Amino acid sequence: MCGIIGIVGKEEVADRLLDGLRRLEYRGYDSAGVASVHDGAIERRRAEGKLANLAKELVAEPLPGTTGIAHTRWATHGAPTTSNAHPHATQEVALVHNGIIENFKPLREELIARGRHFDSQTDTEVVAHLVSELVEQGASPQEAVQQVLPRLHGAFALAILFRRHPDLLIGARLGSPLVVGYGEGETYLGSDALALAPLTQRIAYLDEGDWVVITREGAQIFDRDNVPVERPVTLSGVSGAMIDKGNHRHFMAKEIYEQPVVVAQTLRSYLRRMENQVALPDMDFDLAGVRRITIVACGTSYYAGLIAKYWFETFARVPVDIDVASEFRYRDPVLEPGGLALFISQSGETADTLAALRHARAERQIIAVVVNVPTSSMAREADLLLPTHAGPEIGVASTKAFTCQLAVLAALAANLARVKGRLSPEEEAEIVYHLSEAPAAMNDALSHDEEIEAMAHLIAPARDVLYLGRGQDYPMALEGALKLKEISYIHAEGYAAGEMKHGPIALIDDAVPVIVIAPSGPLFEKTVSNMQEVQARGGKVVLISDAEGIAAAGDGCMATIEMPRVHPLIVPLVYAVPVQLLAYHVAVAKGTDVDQPRNLAKSVTVE
Ligand code: M6R
Repeated sequence: MCGIIGIVGKEEVADRLLDGLRRLEYRGYDSAGVASVHDGAIERRRAEGKLANLAKELVAEPLPGTTGIAHTRWATHGAPTTSNAHPHATQEVALVHNGIIENFKPLREELIARGRHFDSQTDTEVVAHLVSELVEQGASPQEAVQQVLPRLHGAFALAILFRRHPDLLIGARLGSPLVVGYGEGETYLGSDALALAPLTQRIAYLDEGDWVVITREGAQIFDRDNVPVERPVTLSGVSGAMIDKGNHRHFMAKEIYEQPVVVAQTLRSYLRRMENQVALPDMDFDLAGVRRITIVACGTSYYAGLIAKYWFETFARVPVDIDVASEFRYRDPVLEPGGLALFISQSGETADTLAALRHARAERQIIAVVVNVPTSSMAREADLLLPTHAGPEIGVASTKAFTCQLAVLAALAANLARVKGRLSPEEEAEIVYHLSEAPAAMNDALSHDEEIEAMAHLIAPARDVLYLGRGQDYPMALEGALKLKEISYIHAEGYAAGEMKHGPIALIDDAVPVIVIAPSGPLFEKTVSNMQEVQARGGKVVLISDAEGIAAAGDGCMATIEMPRVHPLIVPLVYAVPVQLLAYHVAVAKGTDVDQPRNLAKSVTVE
């Protein structure tokens, strides 16, 4: 949720810390700050708002020093003001934190009772005081951190700077990601390998409960029992080049346009075109023995899971339970030992999904993970890792990660159906053929961009928008509504088309646009009946369908968007494109911050 970086360097660090923050800004962007040790004192620069404000601050008042830490924030406790921005500091220590210290209130009261003064409303500041207190009493940095960590409940990745130890940083992680980067005579800490990519490719991933002392010479890692441990150093392979928008105005537009390529790239790892077969990575459990699947995810990844539920049940006849991750653990789900629990995540770090994964592991489930970041916590904890190959997704609104997830989930459903004896070689060949056609059909869908842009002004003035769909198009309606609300701030709801008459129809008037997702097929007539119920009440409809569907039901619609006629299996991959483009152009028409919408962050690493 927040992004952190630290450098113990040979040279000045402020510019490099700022560059690292630019690469981490997707994690949070409501304030930012840096701190270093210089001439025996801790110095800080912090600024409210986007990183550009901190950059100005650093120009006005440069920050000297060769050891430093930096942070970009997504506020949890305390408003996004300068005084709540990290690093939080005392005279002796400064620290940055990603996560939530859940027991901060009693700790704060305890510290206040001992005469400590607080400058912020954050949960984080208690950690600075706890460490500082011990250091002031003569403890070494290592002793202080070792004593404080067991007192913290919740989730954290920390990087801590010490006034009297200008060549050292201490990092710690529990529940939030933290990596160590090894350079030439320099050592780094970062929330992810992307942040450190221009500095080094040599990365060690800390395990849960690990803490680490870094100096210029390297890193000494300890586990949660304070036993020195080695963590493997791997080459991250992440490009050091700054991720850019290409010819597009926003990352979101670039990522929508990348979809045919990245979906094709993803499918290449799961389809054997020559053999007309779907292929999965090796696994050391019997997929054919899976009797029930539990899918858990958040947001857009959850909607990908909802679509996949249709596929697992239709093709493989395996029953599926599906939950949003934040509800999963708390309803104490009944999980038969040996069941398959499937987690879907772009980042692989979403705190709710990760906690759900660990709950499922404790309940003796086999853990399968569909994830875009192959070095993420979820990827590392999977029994079956099913990577998507979408490449870094920077826009907060998930687009290409979603369609790549769908591609992987379709392959998994087909594979499961085959091993369950429910898919003949001819049927499998048909699936392989249609999946291979998806990138071209997505390209066709992209060719409607200008029309969609032209109709965005019809939606932009609305206060409320409804999305309707049936069957697998219902989750697409949910996804459409999520896309629109998160980037345009228009209230939007996705509904199962047939459910509309049980309540939402009361909302219909000529000021509430209704987006109907209705490809030709067995459910078309029924969805169109629901659409006509909307039109009979003066509702303004945008129909997304194929030529046949539009010919049959397009009259009387405010607008239509014509998609190519495709096999039902790839409908969600193709129809995602107009749904994303519509949300994008409405947001642009409204002038909102498309890539960094208010109150959101790309990676939600707090529960
Ligand atoms: O990284 P994850 O896929 O686990 O993230 C899940 C959600 O936070 C994410 O899909 C969110 O809903 C997006 N902003 C939607 O566009």
